Amino acid sequence: MPPANSFKSSRAEEEQCYPLVLELCQKCGNLQLQYCVDEKELFNQYFYITPDSPSLRSHYEFLVRYMFDETYLAPDSFVVEIGSNIGRFLLHLKDNPGVRRVLGVDPAQNVCALARKEGIETICAFFDGAVADVISREHGPAQIIVARHCCAHNKNPHLILKGVHNLLADDGYFVMENAYALNTLQNNEFDQIYHEHMFYYMIRSVQKLFELNDLSLVDIAIVPIHGGSIIFFAQKKKKGRAANPSVETYSRIEAELMGDGLLRDFVDNTENIGNRVKEIVTDVNNNKKSIWAYGATAKGSTLLNYLKIDYHEIPYCVDSTSIKHGKFLPMANIEIVPEEYAWSEPPDYFLLTAWNYKTEIISKVRSKGNSKSRFIVPIPQVTIEE
Ligand code: TYD
Repeated sequence: MPPANSFKSSRAEEEQCYPLVLELCQKCGNLQLQYCVDEKELFNQYFYITPDSPSLRSHYEFLVRYMFDETYLAPDSFVVEIGSNIGRFLLHLKDNPGVRRVLGVDPAQNVCALARKEGIETICAFFDGAVADVISREHGPAQIIVARHCCAHNKNPHLILKGVHNLLADDGYFVMENAYALNTLQNNEFDQIYHEHMFYYMIRSVQKLFELNDLSLVDIAIVPIHGGSIIFFAQKKKKGRAANPSVETYSRIEAELMGDGLLRDFVDNTENIGNRVKEIVTDVNNNKKSIWAYGATAKGSTLLNYLKIDYHEIPYCVDSTSIKHGKFLPMANIEIVPEEYAWSEPPDYFLLTAWNYKTEIISKVRSKGNSKSRFIVPIPQVTIEE
């Protein structure tokens, strides 16, 4: 597979392909990629721009309120976000009464520039021990370090956690949010597997990871965003705040639900969903109906390339991110066009490659006057929404 976010400037441009193999660690229960693509290749010019979405906004609201109510966010906090992208979360957080100042860290030049334009101070770097030391020297220790959907993007998470330990105030908290592997498996989200996602975290494996880095897990929140995510709250071991009962409860549930059966079902369901989507797309084409994709997501690259669907069957993919427009999905070679195309001359069907935003995308499309297109939703089961 090519890296899922490596959008191309033309169909003729060759893509680099790498093995995409998921393995299970028998020691700690971690799911991880067998082969990791060099991070510099994956993230230097990055096309993922956090969308402005109502479900993300309400998720940010939940997280900020939770950190405040559970006293993770202390008064006058200095908050650092790793993988801050264009700074949407920090923009949301910065006016909270508990926050003194915020600082983002992100390795992609283009997104750092956009964050700074919004007034979010951002350091352009891969976060590690050395970057943490520079921040600590210049700004002092952080009360909160947030890492949302980025720790799985580094083949050596110990480098991040070493930095977290160096930068975190002794009474501070590390807040790590990721897709939850249990949900990924239960909801048949095989399209979440791509090179940028090197790890698929379980509570059991994260606990081990934290322990190896002198951190301890104090709390867990399970949230619906991105098809089911988990938020881990950790402290320095020596701080010694008692763990919230959620840690014990969710760990027990995870141990009960994880078993050979779940993985086997996941493999079977992947095949069944794949066959069904391929069949529908083929039928739509045979019946001379039009079909486009909705959402130039990394997930969409996995789905389309796994099914060997390309621009001959699906000519366009609409997306709200302007820097993706005019580019082509890797390997599938489908042209990315502005979302407005979805309401001016809409196709008969959309394959909803951004299924995690299903409700808001369908209601947006309808509110723009498109009552024609039907939506093929691939995950968790294939459905066709009128
Ligand atoms: P996301 O689901 O975060 O994807 P990934 O699989 O890449 O992690 O990205 C959502 C994509 O969908 C992003 O490119 C923006 C696009 N999008 C729209 O086009 N319209 C919308 O209303 C929303 C919410 C997202």
